[in-house]
Amino acid sequence: MSVLAVLGGQWGDEGKGKVIDWLAERADVVARYQGGANAGHTVVLNGKQYILHLVPTGILHPDVRCIIGSGVVVDPLALVEEIQYLRAQGVEVGENLAVGKRTHLIMPYHKVLDAHMEDLLGVNRIGTTGRGIGPAYSDKAARLGVRVSDLLDEKILTERIRVCLALKRRILGGIGISKEESQALDEGYNLEMCRKVREILAPHVRDTEAEIQEAAESGKRILLEGAQGVLLDLDMGTYPYVTSSNTGVGGALSGLGLPYGKLNAVLGVMKAYCTRVGQGPFPTEIHGEEGERLRSAGGEYGATTGRPRRCGWFDAVAARHCIRVTGLDGLVITKLDVMDNHAAIQVCVAYELEGKRLTSFPAEINVLERCKPVYEEFPGWMTSTSGAREWEALPQRARGYLSALERLTGKKIWLISTGPGREDTIQVKDPFAALQEREPRP
Ligand code: IMP
Repeated sequence: MSVLAVLGGQWGDEGKGKVIDWLAERADVVARYQGGANAGHTVVLNGKQYILHLVPTGILHPDVRCIIGSGVVVDPLALVEEIQYLRAQGVEVGENLAVGKRTHLIMPYHKVLDAHMEDLLGVNRIGTTGRGIGPAYSDKAARLGVRVSDLLDEKILTERIRVCLALKRRILGGIGISKEESQALDEGYNLEMCRKVREILAPHVRDTEAEIQEAAESGKRILLEGAQGVLLDLDMGTYPYVTSSNTGVGGALSGLGLPYGKLNAVLGVMKAYCTRVGQGPFPTEIHGEEGERLRSAGGEYGATTGRPRRCGWFDAVAARHCIRVTGLDGLVITKLDVMDNHAAIQVCVAYELEGKRLTSFPAEINVLERCKPVYEEFPGWMTSTSGAREWEALPQRARGYLSALERLTGKKIWLISTGPGREDTIQVKDPFAALQEREPRP
């Protein structure tokens, strides 16, 4: 009775890293289930900032075991770099990190393909992170992927790379690629890369499905760490402006090989406002100076690409969609302190489309693009909430705003984050205690 999924309830960058780090203090296992080095989880610990892309946030806790599950796509070079970065910071990375044998690899040619596809799409580009995510998941679905287990078997590895590259060269042949890029399509180059990382990664390669199931059976406290957010989910998000994996509960179960009955609760992390990176509809986006003010107050620049994030008001219509399609039990509201200097705060309660009021999130992207937000206005508190650690310490108007978010989403807030540090957290409901209240599923 102790498996808790923590996932993004917006377009990513909700502050999941900090939340998982906070929860990991009382967890035994933290497991990443999807995405890749497109994610950037920022954690501030004793004033020092750590940015993690692939390694689960639990790594900063010496007693926590970390798992990179089969649903993740691992760029082996990025993973080795991250392991070395963590070790250089004095963080132990050894037995405590396991990478699933079934996990797919992002190869150099996936990154070249990612860049070319974006170029070819022109004005229709997705605005990807350029980390090869889409092409790696495409190859996985097309049964052309290279998996972590292949990395350890030179014969199989050579054959997988040969088959995949034969196709890629034909596809990319007509495009005209640079000399550097053509290297990425060379069998020898790809093999060499794999050989280079093999020694460092081999000790971490394990049967992660067995590990997580055993941990669940023996009552260990397990956190399932989501990347991106439900509005970027391949099926439930704002397609085609999404990432290439299932960011919600479905992705957590399939990406870790975890039986559904083992999952006890799902926490959705949402910012007190909204942000989005890359292209795609964003009904509550604030343009101009006010958007810029929110961006600079929230430090809204991508942890992976450094791109400025688009900023907007909290969108309760999108939040309800996310809650409905992934079954959130409770909410974590982050970055409340970023709203401290707003005299008035808007929340989108419905959309208006051609004189009609919509209260559900449309599936059609061209419809969503035409939706105008209907706002309810809340008075700002105009005083600092930064670092607040108790509900009672919050100004009345901040409490009113949070209660309004509960009313508009229909979900209770379990945790509130009031700053980047671990301790800048208000616990309204203990998520682990809440797990014990749930009836076991079959
Ligand atoms: P990809 O995941 O790199 O293919 O990018 C697809 C879309 O997801 C783009 O709009 C990216 O900006 C967005 N995206 C991917 N990862 C993240 C993330 O960690 N935070 C926010 N947006 C992301």
